[in-house]
This record gives sequence, structure tokens and C-alpha cells, in this order.
Amino acid sequence: MKHLKNLENNLINIKQRRAIKIKRCWWKEAVFYQIYPRSFKDSNNDGIGDIKGITSKLDYLKELGIDVVWLSPVYKSPNNDNGYDISDYRDIMCEFGTLKDWDEMLCEMHKRGIKLIMDLVLNHSSDEHMWFIESRKSKDSLYKDYYIWADGNENGEPPNLWESVFGFSAWHYDEDAKQYYLHLFSKKQPDLNWSNPKLREEIYDIIEFWIKRGVDGFRLDAIRFLGKPEYKNEAVDFYPNDDLTHIYLKEMNQKILSKYNIVTVGEVQDLDIDGAKKYIRESDKELNMCFQFNHVNICEMKYGTKWVNKKPNMFDVKKALSKWQTELPVDAWNTLFFGNHDLPRQVSFFSNDSDHYREISAKMLATIIFTLKGTPFIYQGEEIGMTNIIFDKLDDYNDIDTINFVKQKAEIEDIDIETAFKQNKDIINFVSRDNARTPMQWDDSENAGFTAGTPWLKVNPNYKKINVESNIKDSNSVFNYYKKLIELRKKNDVIIYGDYQEFLLDDKCVFIYKRELYDEKVLVIINMTDEIMQKKMPLNLNVKEATPVICNYKRAYNFKKEMLLRPYESVIYFYY
Ligand code: GLC
Ligand code: CA
Repeated sequence: MKHLKNLENNLINIKQRRAIKIKRCWWKEAVFYQIYPRSFKDSNNDGIGDIKGITSKLDYLKELGIDVVWLSPVYKSPNNDNGYDISDYRDIMCEFGTLKDWDEMLCEMHKRGIKLIMDLVLNHSSDEHMWFIESRKSKDSLYKDYYIWADGNENGEPPNLWESVFGFSAWHYDEDAKQYYLHLFSKKQPDLNWSNPKLREEIYDIIEFWIKRGVDGFRLDAIRFLGKPEYKNEAVDFYPNDDLTHIYLKEMNQKILSKYNIVTVGEVQDLDIDGAKKYIRESDKELNMCFQFNHVNICEMKYGTKWVNKKPNMFDVKKALSKWQTELPVDAWNTLFFGNHDLPRQVSFFSNDSDHYREISAKMLATIIFTLKGTPFIYQGEEIGMTNIIFDKLDDYNDIDTINFVKQKAEIEDIDIETAFKQNKDIINFVSRDNARTPMQWDDSENAGFTAGTPWLKVNPNYKKINVESNIKDSNSVFNYYKKLIELRKKNDVIIYGDYQEFLLDDKCVFIYKRELYDEKVLVIINMTDEIMQKKMPLNLNVKEATPVICNYKRAYNFKKEMLLRPYESVIYFYY
């Protein structure tokens, strides 16, 4: 009896201690899944994915175990940048359906316990938005100051040398307005003028519109660019004015976001840890999380451009990931991802998409994402190990970034577009954003079950082998491995909230870390290479006994003093 009492007291103690340490929060415990609607599922066979298509696949998402959908833009848009150019923030693109379809989708999501975050593009609108149409009409227009207009320099050239993210000058001369306007992305995406309080109020109204309609949060596109520096400078690169951006985000938080129980994730390019603290520390009251790209932009940082046919060095990737695990303050929370709609397919880019290693190495990447500290994001198709696509003609590409890259090459080198494409084909095949945008591969029927029409972007021919249907049937598939990882994460607070400690920090090939929450300890061992690795267990890793709980090979070895790791082997152990 006394023994039982003690045990009970102990349990109460553990629970109390935990309650102190863990500040529970739904979006920290959730698994997010990004849908790129154009490519997810076509319900009416016009070749374009749509909202009804998404609704028809919610049981699939439930089966996988996801909690929140991040939906790339579905608002009205002329589709110059596939929805990231919005012409009406309060309506749905005709090709995708109607507001009624959207309401139905949300209702079906909520029925299944799935939340929805919308992608909000607030740095720019489409040039076909009513605000811009009015803005360019006259200097006295009520909307003039909704955008950033400037006269040319004394030679009539653009006000400065800033280049847009998609290549070419960031200024476009507007014949009607007889002035230049700023567009940090394509010329059909004029930048909004956040220094105008009226514009900011409009934006808060839009946010409120969607919250009232039931959304659970937002992904905030290109959010760092809101604050503009003085444009009369000579720099070619545009360096955002972070101070201003933070002022805007604080105001947005105070005036609207903080009033609701929603989650916000900002997309923040070129961010270091000190910078991130300002966006996501609880005390700063701006955003909940951000996407930072330090582990993804390894090549870009090295070569100064993303347009290289090079895989990132996994040692650099590990260092970047680990840094964010150890250096973010306790009141800030990380995101975890290797892919999204702007990046190549992760298995082709970071690991190995050969027939032999595709599945095993896709599982290796997933093991990292699901066992580090932070909220994991899956990009559609990643859970079945979808790969990059090889298009042989420029015509097959749709992505504005890719097309502008080729045009700019042609212009600079004074060659024709076809030649520019051919000369850069390998690079484009490797990094183009269309790699991630080919239609979702549902089954082995024509067009991968995505559409019975002609898909807007060609389906990857490997769909006969790589598809959802075959993944679900095969208990060893990438899909079923993701399911197991998600279940494991949900059942074990230690994986969500546990402390992080890395071992063998200087090892270029293996990534080893433990997660610890009181009496619970998890050890993750990853071989990041395609070679067999033999390593001594780190001495400071004090393990009495360890049980493998998940391994990407059929059988995991029990814990030993010596590790013998097969190519891309990843094992999660529970130990004491
Ligand atoms: C973000 C989006 C990208 C888009 C750009 C402009 O980076 O993720 O797809 O092209 O912003 O909106
Ligand atoms: Ca359709």
C-alpha cells in the first residue's frame, strides 16, 4: 500500500515537473502539410487541381496523421506566379472553385480535426488588383500611395539598380502613370506600400475576413520584404529594412492577430538567429514561427546563386540544423522542413533519388525532420518520395522564375532563348521550382490519377512506380514510414518538447543527437551518406540499454559500443 502511495506521489511529481517545463501549444504539437492546390487533385478534369479536389482527399491526409494544412494561395489571381499574385484577396480563383467550395472544404477539414492556414501574400498584389489599376490612373488617385512609385533618374532610367528576385530590374516603367513602380518579384507583382497606414488597415480587414470565415492561421509570404529601405541608393541587391518590418508586424499583431487563437508562420529569407529572435520570440509579439532557409540555401550561400547543379554538402546541412536547435532561445519555436513549392524535391536535392536508394534516403530525411525540435512541415508528395522532373524543352516549364532565368541568360550572353535553355538545362532540371509542382501522383492510371484531362504541368513519368496507392499497400513504403514517425512523435512529448544535444559534432557523415525530457531519452542516429559507416559510440553518451523503435531498414541492430551503419541508415532508439 505504502509502495503504491509512493508510486502515485512520484507520478504526480513527474506530471507537475512536466507541466512546469512544457508550455503546451497546439501548433507545436501539430504536423503541417503543404498543399499546392494547382497540382494536388483535379475534380472536374480541366487539368488544374482545385478545392473540391482537396476536399476529396481529406481522408488521405487524416490517414497520414496530419493536423494542419497550409494551403498555397487560392485567391483570385491572373496566375503570373501561380496565385502569389493576388487580384482579389476576398475571393477564390475561378479555376479553383468558389467561396462556397472553400467553406465546404474548411467544414470537412474541421470535421476531421484538421486545421487550415491560408497563405497570405502581403508584400505585393497582382497588377490586376483594383488598387493597382486605380493607383496607376492618376497622381491624385486615392490608391496612389498603396504602391511604391518613383521617377526615373536624370537619364530616365530606373531609380536605382535593385534587381528583382526573379531577375531583371525591380522597377517597371508604367506608361499610364509615367513613373516607375517597384516590384521585388515579377513585374505583375507590384509591391504594396506598407508605410501607408490606410493600406495597412485594408490588410487587417482582409485578415479579419478570413478569420471570421474560420481559418486557423496564416503563412505570411515573403514577409521580410515589407519594410523598404531608402531607394535612392546604389546597391544592386535589395536589403529589407528590418526595423520597419518589425514595426509593421508588431502593429499587425496588436491590432488583429493577437485577438484570435490562430497561428502565424512567416517566410523569412536570409535570416540568422539574432534576426529570427525578433520575429518569433514570444515577448516580441510578432509571429509564432518562421521558415528560415539556412539548411536549405547551402549552395546558394556558397555560389551566390541558387542556379547551380550542385547538391548541398550534408555536413553543412547538419551544422545549420544543429545551430538552430541549440541557439534559438527557449521562448522561440522552430519549423522543420526540407521541401516546399519553391524548392527542388528533397530526395533529389538532399539525398538520393536513384532506384536503389530513393526510399531509404527519403526516410532518412524524414527521420531528421520528425525528431528534431520544432514543428514539422511536409510538402505534398514528399510522403511518397516524389522526385525531381526532367523536362527537355523550355515550353514544358511554367515557373516564372525559371523562365526569367533563361531569358536573362539569353539577354546577358546575347544568345537565343533555346540556346540559353540548352546550355543551362542540367541546372534548370535540378533546381527549377517546377520540380516540386508536377501533379501529385495518386495511382498508376493515366496522369497518375491527378486528372482525366490534360494536366497544366506534365506528370512525372515515374508515377507508375511512385504513387499513393502503391505506397499505402506496401507496409515498408515511404508513406507508411511517415505514418509511423508521426504516430511516434504524437505519443512522445520528449520528441516534441525534449532538450536537444548533439554528438560527434565534427563528423561529416553521421548526425547523432539525443532528445531528453526528464526520464525519457531518445537517441537518433543518422548516416547521411551512401556508404557504410563504422563509428565508435560517443563516450559522453551514457547509455545503459537502448531499444530501437523505428529504423528505415527492415531490422535495426541493438545498441552496441560500435555502430555499423548501412547507407542512409536512420534509427531512433529509446534508452536509459
Ligand atoms: C514566396 C513564395 C513564392 C513566390 C514569392 C512571391 O517566396 O513562396 O512561391 O513566388 O514569395 O510571392
Ligand atoms: Ca479542376
